[in-house]
Amino acid sequence: METQIGIVGAGPAGLMLGLLLERHGIDSVILETRDRQYVEQRVRAGVLEQNTVDLMHELEVGDRLEREGLEHHGINLRHLGETHYVPMTELTGRSITVYGQQEVVKDLVAARLKGRASLLFEVSDVALHDIDSGRPRISFVHDGSEHELACDFVAGCDGFHGICRSAISPEVLTELEYTYPFAWLGILAEAAPATEELIYAWHEHGFALYSMRSPQVSRLYLQVAADEDLAAWSEDRIWNELELRLGHVNTGPIFEKGITPMRSFVVSPLQHGRLFLCGDAAHIVPPTGAKGLNLAVNDARLLAAALHDRFESGDEARLEAYSRTALRRVWRAQDFSNYMTQLLHNLGGGAFEHGLQVSRLEYIARSESAARSLAENYVGLPAASDF
Ligand code: FAD
Ligand code: PHB
Repeated sequence: METQIGIVGAGPAGLMLGLLLERHGIDSVILETRDRQYVEQRVRAGVLEQNTVDLMHELEVGDRLEREGLEHHGINLRHLGETHYVPMTELTGRSITVYGQQEVVKDLVAARLKGRASLLFEVSDVALHDIDSGRPRISFVHDGSEHELACDFVAGCDGFHGICRSAISPEVLTELEYTYPFAWLGILAEAAPATEELIYAWHEHGFALYSMRSPQVSRLYLQVAADEDLAAWSEDRIWNELELRLGHVNTGPIFEKGITPMRSFVVSPLQHGRLFLCGDAAHIVPPTGAKGLNLAVNDARLLAAALHDRFESGDEARLEAYSRTALRRVWRAQDFSNYMTQLLHNLGGGAFEHGLQVSRLEYIARSESAARSLAENYVGLPAASDF
């Protein structure tokens, strides 16, 4: 088998890259270890920046997003029973859209399967070979037989636990990591959201977030200990704690719950030989800034444009700059996600830390410059900016 671009992983990064390449007339094969149902059901992110929404429309995969996505123009910051609204659209002219990551994945998988380009689910034993050469290869097992895919370039879009990152020798790769001493317990519930827009809440018991997926489904999160045991959280305990931290919540049957560790992680460079890393394979942000999915999409956008130049005219300038360019936005998102995390969580630092948090929250409430800085990072800097 051969192709121009071998893409490892059918998450948002791999699927978006595949679709962008298809639109440029560049051939690719996507390899995914899980089955279609698993990737389409996996519950994760929910907030799309305007850049991501615009790109979905440009690629003509935005119809359902247009119908079912919830456009939001601000967020609420809550502290000691008081709620302050940050009017993001008023401050930046841009908005965000709440639309589940699994819905994005469904739309991208459907678009991919409509065309002729291949997407193989349930592959195993994926390994990269000769990424330093002009003709890298990917070996894998599919339908019980061994295959080898020869490519011009390989895109490692296989998430944080994938294999692509480790194909780059540790002598070349710098890995920076910070693990926060707490986690998020997230639920989905059949309950009409009691708020129109998201509520990010500081509480002495820890952070809480009120989000949603539709007018009938709420998505809520609680800060819990890093080693929290999910079994210790009955439905009653979850709702009581949410009510305490968020003010009023509407309850209903919980149909999904899980615990997500909180980490910041960045590798550099994002390229070695003919291998390019995109999305969570190269960087993780804590979810407080709602940036992970959007960063994955941005990497795909930059890499697809660079590969287009390369195949169209042999110009490798953007390909060579990919790592530097993508990392600029990654670091902006790292800083913003870290800032939101420090602003709103109980970090265990006592009264001094709380004093700083109160001052920061008041600064956002009283200074338009502070609010605008938060808002422009939250909605996402324009794709055409240098970030
Ligand atoms: P993934 O989605 O992890 O996809 C990688 C794919 O590669 C997977 O399908 C995996 O099965 C496959 N794979 C792995 N190994 C191999 C292999 N060896 N061979 C082939 N395939 C392989 N982000 C936001 O922007 N906004 C939010 O509101 C937000 N909230 C979040 C809430 C939670 C609870 C969590 C967990 C994450 C959240 N994120 C959010 C982050 C976001 O979900 C991720 O950043 C996003 O999934 C990254 O996409 P990706 O394609 O890089 O990786
Ligand atoms: C979500 O709806 O899942 C969500 C929203 C905002 C975040 C993180 C997750 O910051």
